[in-house]
Amino acid sequence: MDLIKLNTPSQLVIGDGSLSQFFEDFLKSGQQRLFVVSIPVIRQLLQPYYDKIEQAGIIICVNEQIAAEPSFAEVEEILAEARQFEADAVVGIGGGSVLDAAKFIAAQLRNTQTTTEIIGIGNLNGRSTYLACLPTTAGTGSEVSPNAIFLDTTDNEKKGVISPFLMPDAAYVDPLLTVGVPPAVTAFTGIDAFTHCLEAFINRFAHPVVDRFALDGMQLIFKNLKQAYDHGNDLEARAAVALGSVYGGMCLGPVNTAAVHALAYPLGSKYKIAHGLSNAVMLPYVLEYNMPAAVERFALLAKNLGITGCSTNEEYASAGIAAIQQWMESMDVPVKLSAIGIPESALNDIAKSAIKVQRLLKNNVRDIALKDAKEIYKRAF
Ligand SMILES: NC(=O)c1ccc[n+]([C@@H]2O[C@H](COP(=O)([O-])OP(=O)(O)OC[C@H]3O[C@@H](n4cnc5c(N)ncnc54)[C@H](O)[C@@H]3O)[C@@H](O)[C@H]2O)c1
Repeated sequence: MDLIKLNTPSQLVIGDGSLSQFFEDFLKSGQQRLFVVSIPVIRQLLQPYYDKIEQAGIIICVNEQIAAEPSFAEVEEILAEARQFEADAVVGIGGGSVLDAAKFIAAQLRNTQTTTEIIGIGNLNGRSTYLACLPTTAGTGSEVSPNAIFLDTTDNEKKGVISPFLMPDAAYVDPLLTVGVPPAVTAFTGIDAFTHCLEAFINRFAHPVVDRFALDGMQLIFKNLKQAYDHGNDLEARAAVALGSVYGGMCLGPVNTAAVHALAYPLGSKYKIAHGLSNAVMLPYVLEYNMPAAVERFALLAKNLGITGCSTNEEYASAGIAAIQQWMESMDVPVKLSAIGIPESALNDIAKSAIKVQRLLKNNVRDIALKDAKEIYKRAF
């Protein structure tokens, strides 16, 4: 068996009441100055907890500036605020955008390395500030991943800081925090989580340990996302998707994603398409391209999603891809680039940008050259 290293938060708390558990644990931790990165839409839910820990003597500074998909420049600005506040702990309570920002801030708070020096894989020297992450989307799985992704406005590319030091000290996954996510965001973020699992399962570096998370994660999300989309208050469906998202996050560190994510990145960086939607649009076309290189795995994936009655692996594989596309369409997720405002004239430039994301393309089960990327985008148009 290939060697695999799994990093997880020292404390992973999942289930109803995790939110209040975080504040209880924090009170006992001895930290005094808490810098919170969050979003205004959940302020009302969080305020009683802020009040409680303030009454106990904790000093809090809350920043709610991150709207979605931040740039390095934006998070550097918030980092300056956290340094001025002299935080001794950082918590992110929000979607992947907020969690990634919190991870960056905690890592850089007392670090002398510049942003440019830490971009890439394994370049961060360490982290000395306590970090906790509480996801409010399901999701990126950022709360259990060593990644933080930002837009570099100097060249308009999305870039990753990837380091075990970005793994939070603690993650608290409370499905209640995802109840207010609007239907479209529920669908996009859920498909992102599903894609984390899928791309780790159909991956050059797929591993039996990660396969377990990937298969269970795909099943949970495939069976429950539509219900969470249709009935946002269904806590059982929300909990199943939140757990699937954690499993998706567990796939990110040791195996990671591949061409769907690589080809989705330029849609976000150049056209501001939400991360989950970018992945959803590219998913069917990259799967079709990859299928001949991994028919058996695709067939297993289809059976895992509950597909029966086919005679050959090829039939199962095709039925699986068709089912995923129908599932996305049942949640009104667009599956054409033309439907999300990407002009046909941009496809060549987008392909050139995607091909730079070699850190993910190297994982893809089938090689993708520039001409292949252009062809995939054409089919997706
Ligand atoms: N670090 C990782 O491992 C990793 C993995 C995948 C993606 N990402 C990054 O994460 C970002 C995307 O994160 P995301 O998909 O979670 O979306 P997001 O954090 O950008 O949030 C999407 C929208 O939903 C809103 N929202 C979030 N929670 C809500 C709630 N409970 N109620 C109502 N509205 C809510 C946000 O304010 C925002 O407007 C991208 O920058 C992407 O590159 C990181």
